[in-house]
Amino acid sequence: MSPGREALRDLRRRECAALMATDAARAALALHGAPVLLLDTARVRRQYRRLRSALPFVRFHYAVKALDHDAVIATLADDGCGFDVATGEELALLERHGVDPGRVIHTHPIKKAAEIADAIGRGIRTFVIDNETELAKFTGVGSDVSLLVRLAYRSPHAKSDLSSKFGVGAFEAERLVTSALARGIRVAGFSFHVGSQLDDPDRFVRAIDETVALMGDLERRLRTRFTVLDIGGGFPVAYDEPVASIDDIAARIRPVLAPLVGRLDIIAEPGRVLVAEAMTLVTSVVGVAERADGRWYYLDDGVYGAYSNVVAEDVHPLVFAERELRSDVAGHRWATLAGPTCDSADVVANEVLLPELAVGDLLVSPAMGAYTAVTATRFNGRAPTPIAVVGFAAQSPAERAALASAV
Ligand SMILES: Cc1ncc(COP(=O)(O)O)c(C=O)c1O
Repeated sequence: MSPGREALRDLRRRECAALMATDAARAALALHGAPVLLLDTARVRRQYRRLRSALPFVRFHYAVKALDHDAVIATLADDGCGFDVATGEELALLERHGVDPGRVIHTHPIKKAAEIADAIGRGIRTFVIDNETELAKFTGVGSDVSLLVRLAYRSPHAKSDLSSKFGVGAFEAERLVTSALARGIRVAGFSFHVGSQLDDPDRFVRAIDETVALMGDLERRLRTRFTVLDIGGGFPVAYDEPVASIDDIAARIRPVLAPLVGRLDIIAEPGRVLVAEAMTLVTSVVGVAERADGRWYYLDDGVYGAYSNVVAEDVHPLVFAERELRSDVAGHRWATLAGPTCDSADVVANEVLLPELAVGDLLVSPAMGAYTAVTATRFNGRAPTPIAVVGFAAQSPAERAALASAV
């Protein structure tokens, strides 16, 4: 294992050990049993503040799709963060938290006309489009509604390269802006998403450079003025190997963005980086089998549940035996970790080095906050893995009381 990987593993191990030793974690396990997701809202707040101080002139809109838990929304709303929604349901969630729609942007490039009308009626004024059909749906909207044209930048190094499904190149972007001007629809600027879990600061820099150059070119040639640059999401998270930190990426993009301050409203839509490290999954061993390829442990959560990120995103969460968090354990062996459903694709990890485990033993996976609970299914009739808030703010007075009584 590389020194960087080893140091990360050690850090995560210490973080998991500290979390599992708290009264709140023990209470959550007593209340829910395994599997359970432990959500520490203090870490969400910390990440948001890190982003703010690294890029003080950027306005952040949390991409609600990454984790739509009430405690996350409440924490970020309380700290002044904006929000990025993809659906009316996400907007309704924000409304329940009293979030001013002026702090919300709608970034799904494809929407039903009824969804657009509904969102406008509820106060949303910024939308994203990337094609003529979508643009036509905005004909006749009020002059206070403005659009961002989504650009596509290929990112083969991203875990999820979003450029094949959405976004346009410079030529198509020009046609869309021209068409919008003819229809009397305001295009405020451009957005892009460099790809999710992208450990490549240079890709961010190049995307910003190319977008700013395009904006200048179109402003001159189409005699129009843009006011918004949306640099999307994509900030990576260290799952099983180190990645560029918020500070690393900010150090690269700050000099590119700084000259634009005052001329453009610079916004971003981070999802993963705000919530991934804030949630930890605790599972338990349900079955143990010796097969031709070695030891298999069958867990009570898997890729159709909270480990959905393993398949949907090809990320590799670390997995610790809870026993090895408390003290050093000798006699590790390689094992396969399987989820609880009948599907043979439900394998969380191959070749994991773990101490000898028995039915009932707990396993702990850190950095399980982003695209996990939200993308889980109910395959085999399994209930969603409960989320217990173990940070400063418990989820609700009822949960606080339940947790307190379960200690
Ligand atoms: C339009 C849009 N904005 C923001 C995000 C959040 O991206 P990330 O979680 O990589 O920061 C996504 C993720 O898919 C997205 O599609």
